Amino acid sequence: MPGSSRMPVSLRNSFALQKGRSSSQLLSLNVDLFRNVVFFLFLLRWTRKGLLKLKGRGLFGTFADAYMSLRKSAYGLFLRAPGVRSQVQKQVSEAITKLQAKLVPSGPGIVRYLALPKEGWSEETVMKELDALATMDHTRWEDGYVSGAVYHGGDQLMKMQTEAFGKFTVANPLHPDVFPGVRKMEAEIVAMVLAMFNAPLGAAGVTTSGGTESILMACLSARQKARAERGVTEPEMILPETAHTAFRKAGEYFGIKCHLVACPAPNYQGSISAISRLINSNTILLVGSAPNFPHGIIDDISALSKLALKRRIPLHVDCCLGSFLVPFLEKAGFETELFDFRLKGVTSISCDTHKYGFAPKGNSTILYRTTSLRAYQYFISPDWSGGVYASPSIAGSRPGALIAGCWASLMQVGETGYINSCNQIVGATKKITEAIQTKPGLCSDLEVIGKPIVSVVAFTSNTLDTYDIADAMSAKGWHLNSLQNPPAIHVAVTLPIVKVWEKLVADLEAVVEGEKEKERVRIVEGKGAKGKAVGDSAALYGVAGSLPNKSVVVELASGFLDTLYKA
Ligand SMILES: *Cc1c(COP(=O)(O)O)cnc(C)c1O
Ligand SMILES: *[C@@H]1O[C@H](CO)[C@@H](O)[C@H](O)[C@H]1NC(C)=O
Ligand SMILES: *[C@@H]1O[C@H](CO)[C@@H](O)[C@H](O)[C@H]1NC(C)=O
Repeated sequence: MPGSSRMPVSLRNSFALQKGRSSSQLLSLNVDLFRNVVFFLFLLRWTRKGLLKLKGRGLFGTFADAYMSLRKSAYGLFLRAPGVRSQVQKQVSEAITKLQAKLVPSGPGIVRYLALPKEGWSEETVMKELDALATMDHTRWEDGYVSGAVYHGGDQLMKMQTEAFGKFTVANPLHPDVFPGVRKMEAEIVAMVLAMFNAPLGAAGVTTSGGTESILMACLSARQKARAERGVTEPEMILPETAHTAFRKAGEYFGIKCHLVACPAPNYQGSISAISRLINSNTILLVGSAPNFPHGIIDDISALSKLALKRRIPLHVDCCLGSFLVPFLEKAGFETELFDFRLKGVTSISCDTHKYGFAPKGNSTILYRTTSLRAYQYFISPDWSGGVYASPSIAGSRPGALIAGCWASLMQVGETGYINSCNQIVGATKKITEAIQTKPGLCSDLEVIGKPIVSVVAFTSNTLDTYDIADAMSAKGWHLNSLQNPPAIHVAVTLPIVKVWEKLVADLEAVVEGEKEKERVRIVEGKGAKGKAVGDSAALYGVAGSLPNKSVVVELASGFLDTLYKA
């Protein structure tokens, strides 16, 4: 380069220096700019988050949330303080030991099998042991003492299901060419359930292992759709707080933020205005239940559908519990509301065949308005060394026997059978509801939550401790469900309960009278607090549940799960 070689050294040096300074200046300028941009983006992101929060929850709600979260952390710190920590730990392990003593049988008569028998047993020995296992001391579901849990369609139906199992024990729908009959039955089950829910042409569905898997799949499909079509990377969904907790599970598994919406008295439905305020560009799914598990209330699905259409967001209706009752309410002569695909905004519905469909446990369906919505839940792996792999839902291999059991149940009960059982189950629920609302021994102390029109009735008490009532009912052999926020008890009526609903009401009257008597004694003797030992429900929900930070409850529940696998 001729020009530069002629340049005087001093000049050259100063030039080099200048060049160095200017490039370092430029660099520092760039760093500054970069820093400002990052800071600005950061600010923008948090401002946007803050504004969305303010819009979604209002000024008061935002402060209330902040206060609650502060209380939780403060209480968490308190729980970890040296003396407190060891005390809490001691109580938790005591409670878990008690639980184990109750759930895991022990004693001289009990033989535990912790390794494979060296030689296989004879059929006779296996059968004898199975008989003993089936008749272990238990809450009498056979006599109708259990709320929900056992959705039982009668002995004859159970016998036939067992035979259906026998014919298909090795069948696996993962291999449709090997088991064509199973594929056919599975497709037909979906078609029948779609028809029950008035699905439009082009609707589609999948069978799953239960309501939880159906709900997980609906949330996954909505998340994938929003990601593919709108580029949503921080998905959110909006749930009435009474929606089944499987939605929160989906939130945890699939990284979807859950907004919970209050379900205020007197109708206890998810508040539409609160839901509407929470919708933003990250919203991937709205949810309603028909009916919900805690109170048996059907959300305002018509209003939700309108909102979903207006804001162009998918709407899932959870009919896991409503299953084979809600579609038949009208034909069974009861009042009903619109909740299915006839509402244009409803894009997916979960319906459990293993609840009021009376199919064997392990069966549910998830229905979509379109096949493309269904495709968003598929898992397809085109390049696996094990071959091209495609499965519709979470499971890989699936029990063909269950499909046969389910198909056989639907075919044998038939529409008339389901209308008939709807008649009995909803009829008994209405009688229990009416008894609580009108019987002199009940109506002054108990209050039914909302206006249930399906199979669940929940009630609470303003005068007595609801959990003491639950424990006293347990002592009489009943297994009812305790609820929280607000404290309440519910009965999910099943066919076995239909036969004993009058005894249920009579026992409830006796229990309420007994609790009132205790209350009178307490007042006469001038005792403020309860002196007596508290029962299981009262301990869990009354004592542990009232704490601001539920980490103790979490530890207890985790201990409970460990107990399930103690041989
Ligand atoms: C039972 C139930 C579910 C979940 O069903 P699982 O079969 O227990 O997984 C979902 N939603 C409602 C309203 C239910 O009652
Ligand atoms: C609740 O308490 C636990 C245990 O002290 C703590 O780990 C947790 O962070 C607390 N939760 C919240 C939300 O602050
Ligand atoms: C029943 O559940 C099993 C999984 O446990 C699943 O493979 C099957 O598809 C389900 N069938 C029906 C009919 O719901």
